[in-house]
Amino acid sequence: MLKILFTKEEIEGAVKRLASLIGADYDMEKIIFICLLKGSFVFASDLIRKIKNPVEIDFMRVASYGSGTTTTGNVVIMKDIEVDISGKHVIIIEDIIDTGLTLKKIKDILEERRPKSLKICALLDKRARRKVPVEGDYVGFTIEDGFVVGYGIDYAEEYRNLPYICVLEGERV
Ligand code: PRP
Repeated sequence: MLKILFTKEEIEGAVKRLASLIGADYDMEKIIFICLLKGSFVFASDLIRKIKNPVEIDFMRVASYGSGTTTTGNVVIMKDIEVDISGKHVIIIEDIIDTGLTLKKIKDILEERRPKSLKICALLDKRARRKVPVEGDYVGFTIEDGFVVGYGIDYAEEYRNLPYICVLEGERV
């Protein structure tokens, strides 16, 4: 069963707020956004269209090996970015921070490439589930534990097309 957690309008409000916070912090400087596939593509496409700074966008996909629905920490790059980020302002766009293992690994990889700055913009933050200390610099909503889908986020590759965010209840996940 799907229970709506955030409506289309609530998400739109959060995206607007995040874009204006980012705009205020970067003062018309160029920003390279790195969208983490697949889950972040919907959020990224809405967010960058609200940003007035000059932007570049690139995509990265990592896979986490292991069983079950949670991240294991064995994070491997499946698709790397193509842009050179050294000396550039970079913001990672993430749909959801859960254990933090994915972002911790990606942050470490990107830091080695010496960006001028590196921040994280996450739509959802499941703070209570964190296993490693990673903080979103820009966060849309902090949420409780529970399986969320929609607005790019899947369960077994389904539900990414929902325009709102739901909690999936009563399924074995
Ligand atoms: C999800 C989500 C984050 C990660 C968060 O991706 O998009 O990238 O898990 O988990 P963590 O904080 O515990 O590391 P997923 O592996 O489901 O891939 P997808 O984006 O392709 O759906």
